[in-house]
Amino acid sequence: MGSYAATTLLFAAALLHLSSAHVRLTFPPARTPNYDFLDNVRTGGPCGVPDAGESDPVTTLVVGSSLNVSYHLAYPHRGGIRINILDSNGTIVHALLGLDSWRLEDDSTAFRQEVTLPDGFVCDRCVLQLMRQAAEWSATGGYIFWSCADISIQNSVQCDESYCSGHGTCSGFECNCERTYYGDFCQYKDECEDASDCSNNGECVDLMGTIFPRRQCFCNPGYFGDACSRVSSLSNATIDPNQYTVRNALHDRLTMYARIIEEENEIEIALLHNGTGYAALGWKPTGMSPFLYSTTLFPCCTSSVTGSVHWSKALPCMF
Ligand SMILES: *[C@@H]1O[C@H](CO)[C@@H](O)[C@H](O)[C@H]1NC(C)=O
Ligand SMILES: *[C@@H]1O[C@H](CO)[C@@H](O)[C@H](O)[C@H]1NC(C)=O
Ligand SMILES: *[C@@H]1O[C@H](CO)[C@@H](O)[C@H](O)[C@H]1NC(C)=O
Ligand SMILES: *[C@@H]1O[C@H](CO)[C@@H](O)[C@H](O)[C@H]1NC(C)=O
Repeated sequence: MGSYAATTLLFAAALLHLSSAHVRLTFPPARTPNYDFLDNVRTGGPCGVPDAGESDPVTTLVVGSSLNVSYHLAYPHRGGIRINILDSNGTIVHALLGLDSWRLEDDSTAFRQEVTLPDGFVCDRCVLQLMRQAAEWSATGGYIFWSCADISIQNSVQCDESYCSGHGTCSGFECNCERTYYGDFCQYKDECEDASDCSNNGECVDLMGTIFPRRQCFCNPGYFGDACSRVSSLSNATIDPNQYTVRNALHDRLTMYARIIEEENEIEIALLHNGTGYAALGWKPTGMSPFLYSTTLFPCCTSSVTGSVHWSKALPCMF
């Protein structure tokens, strides 16, 4: 590669996913909305989002068993974790890693912790709470993210499809997972196994990551979207500037080309980036101030918020 690489990125506004920013339980799976930027500054404890009742997934675990609690951590924050079991009122009933100390403080990229559930503690519905420090943002280490999973702890479980997260068959408490699912409980999913899962319009690349999806579709020029299933009129990094509105002011190495495709009800955006790093683009509602500490409410969930859970400040919109 020369001293610079021009990269053209294609976006379709309709297909944007929230990217992962901070911390979110992946097993047992986080309660919905499973945002990963629920912190103790902008959301109320113990979970950041309220218990949605019946509509939340509940993971059934066996009393006294050991399991790997796993979480997505997109940024290597400093600090450690705590894992607690809360009763349905949010009170800590078991601090699985101790109540006062933080674990894994010397491993900022850890994404898993083995825990053993307490002997004799059964619950039809309780909560597994993960707390993760972001110590670099707070001198006292008191700034944390939290993520909760709704769980049930029983004396025994059935070897059935639900044991395998609904994505596999169970035999002798071993899961045989459907295509693209993996993990002891088929709890994780890759985007693809080979190019056929990318509509044969791209390559299935193993990113050698520590967390799912490890294998992802990298679309050939001219394709985009889930499983590279959509066709773009842009098939290379050469832009006809006459077709676009151009904005140069973003950054001296970044030029944005945008146009509205009315038939598709989409905005097509190409970023020309003269650099070797990553370039990305985010959206925020009109009128929201550029950074975190706006007084505008995050445009979701406000109606379902109850009790001590509150959204006092805007959450960052990160895509
Ligand atoms: C947790 O994961 C580690 C690494 O894969 C593995 O060695 C260990 O047996 C797992 N523990 C449980 C309880 O599955
Ligand atoms: C939760 O709080 C309610 C009302 O205070 C109480 O009746 C109930 O027993 C509590 N549940 C638990 C599990 O402590
Ligand atoms: C790049 O794509 C445009 C259409 O978007 C096409 O006209 C042009 O020939 C392509 N250039 C190359 C080098 O493939
Ligand atoms: C990219 O940046 C380098 C300076 O780092 C500059 O010399 C070069 O002309 C730039 N290329 C384009 C296409 O803007």
